[in-house]
Amino acid sequence: MNIKRRELIKAALLAGVAGPMSAALAQTKRTINKNPVLISTWNYGRKANAVAWPILEKGGSSLDAVEAGVKLAEADPNARTVGYGGLPDREGKVTLDACIMDSRFNCGAVLCLEQIMHPISVARMVMERTPHIYLTGEGALQFALANGFKKTNLLTPESEADYIEWLKTSNYKPEKNIENRLGGELNHDTIGMLALDNTGNLSGACTTSGMAYKMRGRVGDSPIIGSGLYVDNGAGAATASGVGEEIIRIAGAHLVVGYMEQGLSPENACRKAVEKIVKINPDKSRDLQVGFIALAPSGAYGGYSIQPGFTYAVKSGTKEEVFKAKSFYR
Ligand code: GLY
Repeated sequence: MNIKRRELIKAALLAGVAGPMSAALAQTKRTINKNPVLISTWNYGRKANAVAWPILEKGGSSLDAVEAGVKLAEADPNARTVGYGGLPDREGKVTLDACIMDSRFNCGAVLCLEQIMHPISVARMVMERTPHIYLTGEGALQFALANGFKKTNLLTPESEADYIEWLKTSNYKPEKNIENRLGGELNHDTIGMLALDNTGNLSGACTTSGMAYKMRGRVGDSPIIGSGLYVDNGAGAATASGVGEEIIRIAGAHLVVGYMEQGLSPENACRKAVEKIVKINPDKSRDLQVGFIALAPSGAYGGYSIQPGFTYAVKSGTKEEVFKAKSFYR
């Protein structure tokens, strides 16, 4: 952290007011990056980036871009771990978790939301229209309906058929990430997207139907600010995919951003967080998959995962590419 930024934080803390502190932090960026960048989890992020990119290209905000991008995955019945078509919990209900965070520490989230196609947009409304950050279950649904969202059956025939098949054994192994089973085109998990816009502002969004056949009421990392997603405009942004319990245990996204604040590159920051999960799970880390991606205020980006196979998609003015993340195990 440079001296000017530290002084601004100190002044804001002494003033004892959160709003001006956020504004002060937002003013401290050293250079304004005029070159927007998008990074999203998994191969699937490429399509989401393609929806978000025109917003950034036209000078739109990183917040608008990440919301629009992840909505594509939420509405896609073939995205079996996100939104519509997501695999249900053990009671056969599709329950959704999502959060969003902007460049000024504003954030909002919904947990265990049912029957709403776009939980990320509800999360944004929680952020923008309420004094709160988290709304859960029935309350989140009431809020969504009161704000114009319509109820939709999110359980597609394909997901219902998979669920009925699963019921035959009810074999619940949360350590095994869903992509191990689905493979191929469906080889992805939570969609997390980070964006840097042409005013130098970072935002992020993260949305999922969570772990397939989870216990009813289970919430993973994805809607938890600091676990599935964190944005600090002066330091960077990070989001996570994989076994949520392990990401929550280390407050993963916040940890990655903290490492970036200490000067680590996005990839090294993600690697350090992965190493921490492996360290605290000496016996089961071989069965765990967690991946992080991160984006720095400079536009530098990176990712890292426990197991091979984690991918992330990047889009900028000069690049459109899906990268295989380096991993702890080969
Ligand atoms: N990372 C998504 C979940 O664990 O629910």
